[in-house]
Amino acid sequence: MPFPIHRPRRLRRTESLRSMVRETRLSLDGVIEPHFIVPGTNVRRPIDAMPGCAQLSVDVFVEECRRSRGLGIPAVILFGLPEHKDATGSAGYAVDGIVPRAIEAVKGAVPDLIVWADVCLCEYTDHGHCGVLHDGEVDNDRTLPLLARAAVAYARAGADGIAPSDMMDGRVGAIRDALDESGHAQIPIMAYAAKYASAFYGPFREAAQSAPRFGDRRGYQMDPPNVREALQEMALDLDEGADILMVKPALAYLDVIRAARERFDVPIAAYNVSGEYSMVRAAAALGWVDADRLILEILTAIRRAGADIVLTYFARDLARLLRA
Ligand code: PBG
Repeated sequence: MPFPIHRPRRLRRTESLRSMVRETRLSLDGVIEPHFIVPGTNVRRPIDAMPGCAQLSVDVFVEECRRSRGLGIPAVILFGLPEHKDATGSAGYAVDGIVPRAIEAVKGAVPDLIVWADVCLCEYTDHGHCGVLHDGEVDNDRTLPLLARAAVAYARAGADGIAPSDMMDGRVGAIRDALDESGHAQIPIMAYAAKYASAFYGPFREAAQSAPRFGDRRGYQMDPPNVREALQEMALDLDEGADILMVKPALAYLDVIRAARERFDVPIAAYNVSGEYSMVRAAAALGWVDADRLILEILTAIRRAGADIVLTYFARDLARLLRA
């Protein structure tokens, strides 16, 4: 029955009414805060392209985690910047590498914080690609055992979960096998299943010093126009043993999040990536947008699209805004 019987505005009249009929509610429960760990002590190096974010040495990182936990943030994900890079990214799977050290330290100090370890070689290879090279190409199958070694090293250090972001075929299965064989059958895998070759990662490559020295990542990350292929990637990762499926980036891929939500009955994660963060900060610095309202709107949209879990550099902003 049309107007004047139906007046949708009736339920929008006051904040209490709006709140009563709100379909999507934000909370910190599904939030994961990314961190970049660098060698040294007492290091806090601001990331120019990501105002408010910094590379942290392990000691400072631990203090920041204590604060995050105190603010109600339940989880972090770690990216490591090693002292030395080489052709195979060996610092990425060294048992005493920067990420295992950070995991051990933080689990000792803040045991109830969930610690996810990103697994990829791009921060550790001197060429900046996510796998090892063979004849000028990223060699999928030679990369798998190295990713598996990294996953085991991080699990052994105490990581609560492993999140492979390299986009090699078969890596979830390789990592699952290696974890199971090394006594880590209980460690979940959050697969960056539908990870697109995106310009939205620009600021991250400064943060993680992981830009490829030649070429780009289009030979392994997904082509942005494709959504059926994303569902195929997700089905494969599930078959290989993924516990959580991730879509990345988030904001330009809300349709992919929605499609994943409708197709699969496992938790869906979305990565609100560096470029999505920096655009808000830059526009806010120019006085063109209200950052706080944008943050709430963006995170609501990602949740509304169907994500249970959101990886976001806005974690602390959200904690503050939810308290307000
Ligand atoms: C590494 C990795 C990237 C991101 C997460 N893991 C960068 C890339 O693939 O180039 C991007 C995160 C962000 O932009 O916030 N493979």
